[in-house]
Amino acid sequence: MEAGAAYPLATSSEKEEKDFIKLCSNENSRGPSPKAVEAVRKEADEIGQYPESSSSELKEAISEYMGVEPFQICVGNGSDEVMDLACKAFTDPGDKVLVPIPTFSQYELASRVNALVPKFVELKDFKWNSKDLLEEISDVKAVFIGRPNNPTGNSIDEKGLKKLLETGKMIIVDEAYGEFANYSVADWIEDYDNLLVLRTFSKIFGIAGLRIGYGMGNRELIEALQRVRPPFSVNRLAQKAAISALKDMDFVEESRKMIVEEKEKLRQELEELNFEVLPSDANFLMATPSPLGMDAADVCDYLSQKGILIRNLSGFKGAGPEWIRITIGTPEQNKRLIGALKKLGGEKE
Ligand SMILES: Cc1ncc(COP(=O)(O)O)c(C=O)c1O
Repeated sequence: MEAGAAYPLATSSEKEEKDFIKLCSNENSRGPSPKAVEAVRKEADEIGQYPESSSSELKEAISEYMGVEPFQICVGNGSDEVMDLACKAFTDPGDKVLVPIPTFSQYELASRVNALVPKFVELKDFKWNSKDLLEEISDVKAVFIGRPNNPTGNSIDEKGLKKLLETGKMIIVDEAYGEFANYSVADWIEDYDNLLVLRTFSKIFGIAGLRIGYGMGNRELIEALQRVRPPFSVNRLAQKAAISALKDMDFVEESRKMIVEEKEKLRQELEELNFEVLPSDANFLMATPSPLGMDAADVCDYLSQKGILIRNLSGFKGAGPEWIRITIGTPEQNKRLIGALKKLGGEKE
């Protein structure tokens, strides 16, 4: 998949971007914390110098936030980079990795660029069933688990996850949307030496454009990641912005509250319009207009003409042509979305 296709506005001009509502990449629709923006401005004069390669101040801040030790943290250029490092550190070319689908496409991409072979297992009815995963686990080296998963928005339960961990395989639990869900297994890293937990500053913290994420695991596991990590992959601006973002927990709380409230409102409104909507612990909803006799392309094309971008999931392995994913916007954005969808039936007839 090409980057421009996944992030359709990444290459468009600023002017075009302003006219669109972007509900297709699960960013924080409120944008970044003003404190993070201020930190970037302040640091701008220092960009002549290399960043601090060990990100020690940032690790201290993450350590306090997540309740793990600084030596149990590896930061990266987005959690995407940490996924790539995990493939490099814990697998060999030709190894298989288990990828439950539909899921975040980067798990497959990280595997393939490291010459690994993804072994896909379908989430039947988009639900997690640890038995199905355990049946396929014996010949794989590692497993990617989105928790909550993108795009389904749901999670494997703790009991099922423990069963996967007990196989001894490397289990990579991606908690990119952990702040919206309000649950985490980061406190299991002492108990399982095969658990890597990923988090990011791209979602609730709203600084996706700076590219910064991190992995948490026990000391040996993190040391293995550090050995394959390019020393300057997290730049000065990103480090400073992330530190400031972690100091602005009011912004995080307000964002979480807004998203939770807006998600329930949007769910109700979509259901009133006869969409089927899956339960979601994240800042997006997976839904289908199939009860209306439409598919994902019908809805996405229509909305894009109205300046609203949502995700057509037909390109996601295991999702099929009928499903869409909508990032929860601000109240104004969601109103515009629902307003447009209310007219959809009439205009399509
Ligand atoms: C499940 C999941 N993990 C990770 C990411 C990307 O994180 P980052 O921006 O830190 O690379 C995304 C982005 O959409 C995602 O959906």
